Amino acid sequence: MIPVCRLEDLPAGESVRIDTSPPIAVFNADGALYAIDDTCSHQDASLSEGWLEGCLVECPLHAASFDIRTGEPTCLPARRPVRTHEVAVIDGVVHVRPAAQEGSAA
Ligand code: FES
Repeated sequence: MIPVCRLEDLPAGESVRIDTSPPIAVFNADGALYAIDDTCSHQDASLSEGWLEGCLVECPLHAASFDIRTGEPTCLPARRPVRTHEVAVIDGVVHVRPAAQEGSAA
């Protein structure tokens, strides 16, 4: 798993981007942590720079919205989901386990 930051550095309503390949956005939705691909499935905007409202994040570029629990878009212009990733807090540090890449041998 990849260490992200200390839990207290990711307060409710905030997000952080990790420079994996592809990058991942980690969100604190009112105390629940979720991780999704950072890059919007519509174009190349960074979802960690979007607006988080409950469990929905709105893309900063064209306002598509994604459910961060499932990665599914909830409105256009995005049509494809983004991947979700496992999040765990270990000894007060947020960790992410990146999902296997599509088409990889993992
Ligand atoms: S880049 Fe996200 S909605 Fe267009």
